[in-house]
Amino acid sequence: MKPTVFRVYFLAGTVQAFAGDWGMGQANSRIPPASIFRPVSTPAHEINTLAIFVLAVTTAIFVIVSGLLTYSVIRFRSRRGDDGSEPPQIYGSAPVEFAWTAVPVLIVFVLILVTARTIYTVQAARRPPHALAVRVVGHQWWWEFQYPELGVVTANELHVPVSDPQDPMPAFLELESADVAHGFWVPRLAGKTDLIPNKTNVTWIDPQEPGIFLGQCAEFCGTQHAFMLLRVVVHPRDEWERWVTTQREPAAQDPSVATGRQVFESTACVSCHVVRGTGAAGRFGPDLTHLMSRETLAAGAALNTAQNLKTRIRDPAAIKPGALMPAMNLGAQDLDDLVAYLVTLR
Ligand code: CUA
Repeated sequence: MKPTVFRVYFLAGTVQAFAGDWGMGQANSRIPPASIFRPVSTPAHEINTLAIFVLAVTTAIFVIVSGLLTYSVIRFRSRRGDDGSEPPQIYGSAPVEFAWTAVPVLIVFVLILVTARTIYTVQAARRPPHALAVRVVGHQWWWEFQYPELGVVTANELHVPVSDPQDPMPAFLELESADVAHGFWVPRLAGKTDLIPNKTNVTWIDPQEPGIFLGQCAEFCGTQHAFMLLRVVVHPRDEWERWVTTQREPAAQDPSVATGRQVFESTACVSCHVVRGTGAAGRFGPDLTHLMSRETLAAGAALNTAQNLKTRIRDPAAIKPGALMPAMNLGAQDLDDLVAYLVTLR
């Protein structure tokens, strides 16, 4: 197994882990880092505004307190020739005590109000009738994205249309978990929302510019929590329509890879994966109907190439130690045939 090198970026409160090999470091280098200070969606804007305000208030307090402290330490330090007597002792001062009680109470009250306003704006937003509905299911360790109104299911890469403020089309996400608690977090689009077993949480995003936005599971969920990455691909409207059309199509049936398809259908792959149009109808793992339309593999841990697919099937733990996908122990020829089949699933 090749040593996996993690480059961890601590940027603006965001940790985005990149794999040094498996091709992801280079693939992600063209995507802007996931910073909460570069919002492109209303909930993220609201949170950013609040964060700047709180930072400004706390910075002002820090500067005033440390300034006064520094001034006192220097101005009233012990000097040669001091007679050693105590300074005048003052017991109780109503104005001073009132000031140091009232001012902090006022500051805390203002912080409570602005925080409540932000929470209200984000959580009380009504779902417009034309909003896109997505059901997000957290799994150990990948993301399932279902579009119930469109009949589309995909994994790890959430596709949504751009939401122009003139013609908004936000995506409302219903978050659920298939196993343990996970956290949905795409810093440039929205704050964190947890995915809790037996509970449905809701959040929404209205990305105002096209592009790719990186995200990360933000709730510890087991061995591969750090590699439960996701990305949101925001399309211009026409491109979005095309994406939906392609995703709704059944899986490609290329007769030249019939042997590989037979390998797929005759092994336990089918009990965990769906390929629409075949007998594969398992729901435990990602839907593979349009596997090759995804840029990444194993929840953002590897670039989705034939070589990485082969490695992933031969030894799932090579890319993600602890992965719940079992190794099928296929013979070399079967493995090659299987990969040849999978790469036709565009
Ligand atoms: Cu899923 Cu951490």
